[in-house]
Amino acid sequence: MGGRKGVVKMDFLEQVQQELLILPQQINNISNDFQQAMQSGLAKQPSSLKMLPSFLDTPSGTEHGIFLALDFGGTNIRVIVVELLGQGIFRIKKHISKPMVASDGSYNYITDTVTAEQLFDFLAEQIGAVVEENESYGLGHTFSFPCCQNSVNSALLLHWTKEINTQGVEGQDVNVLLQQALVRKRLHNVNPLAIINDTVGTLLTAAYSDLYADIGSICGTGHNTCYVQPLASGNSMIINMESGNFNKLPRTKYDLQLDCSSDKPGEQILEKMTAGKYLGELCRLILLDCARPGLLDRDFFACYSRPYSLTTERMVKFSGKEGFNINTYRAVEGVAAALIKRSAQLVAATYLGILQHIDGTGIKHHTIAIDGSLYEKIPGYKQVLEEVLIKNDNNKGRIKLVLSKDGSGVGAAIAAASVSQAERNIS
Ligand code: GLC
Repeated sequence: MGGRKGVVKMDFLEQVQQELLILPQQINNISNDFQQAMQSGLAKQPSSLKMLPSFLDTPSGTEHGIFLALDFGGTNIRVIVVELLGQGIFRIKKHISKPMVASDGSYNYITDTVTAEQLFDFLAEQIGAVVEENESYGLGHTFSFPCCQNSVNSALLLHWTKEINTQGVEGQDVNVLLQQALVRKRLHNVNPLAIINDTVGTLLTAAYSDLYADIGSICGTGHNTCYVQPLASGNSMIINMESGNFNKLPRTKYDLQLDCSSDKPGEQILEKMTAGKYLGELCRLILLDCARPGLLDRDFFACYSRPYSLTTERMVKFSGKEGFNINTYRAVEGVAAALIKRSAQLVAATYLGILQHIDGTGIKHHTIAIDGSLYEKIPGYKQVLEEVLIKNDNNKGRIKLVLSKDGSGVGAAIAAASVSQAERNIS
């Protein structure tokens, strides 16, 4: 009987791993469909890609001075004081980071019982903890959600992503909300100059020292990519694609299940298949299904009965030490490996779509700047990205992937510096 159970379990696992496999032909189709979606989005035709203008080009490298950066992406808020020295050199002079949800449950600023005013007061308080009273600061604000911008310093939040629900922010100009909070906190010495997406910050930081950097991407709690779009005027502009919303993808029943019970079903399909917010939950759903034949440790299900209780971090670090039986350990490990590989393959397929869009048939050098815990911390993630890119792109050897560590925050300071430089040039 025991042997029979083992066989069923292996069949189940193999079947799931098979379902999560992305075949070479599928990579090809995804990159072509992604390129098509980029073109439709740019032409303002129906598309899952929002293609949001940032009103910023890559930096010249000469930006310098001391700037404040506020980086809010959902999990933590970071405030840094950065000194930009030009040519890619910067120094972080001060730094604080606070979680948006306290681990002891004492506060939670991303839930629907919290108002915009409360959230932005919290952000302003963190700024207040870093600034000196007798100094004035230009601020760059990284706000990592889909925003419609009509200048570099205003951004309407289209809708929350990453399961965030704070009330009264959607549809509002995020920089006005911040400015009002700065006034309430009497932080009159802080002057917001630019608001950017985290992908844009990641790209700006890499491009501060690297001429070839033209794609910025986050592979972390969320997933999204931006790139430099040449304009008819001869200039170029960074476009935030909100690529986490791309949806022409081969989904399994688990992807559908996760999507159905998410805050916003039908949205952020690529993100729900690739990002850290969701991989642990997908793994949990798969294992719950696996539980039907009654093969895994019952305690595992008691432990992880709540949605999102198995975080991606926990899934990756899961080991025999958790005290569950060996079958359970092997199942988590096998499913996690398949989910992580699929995530990197899908992301790489979208990079190929972008490269096709930028290059046409030409061959160019590109640096893809990436930040986020999956890329930085998960062994093998970068290798799968590189493997897919090398196998499928004409630019052999001309594509470099770099970690733009904490680039989103430094990028906001670079954006603020380029705005203040442009203002100085006008006056
Ligand atoms: C989500 C947001 C996007 C952000 C990404 C990474 O996809 O919608 O704006 O860039 O997460 O943080």
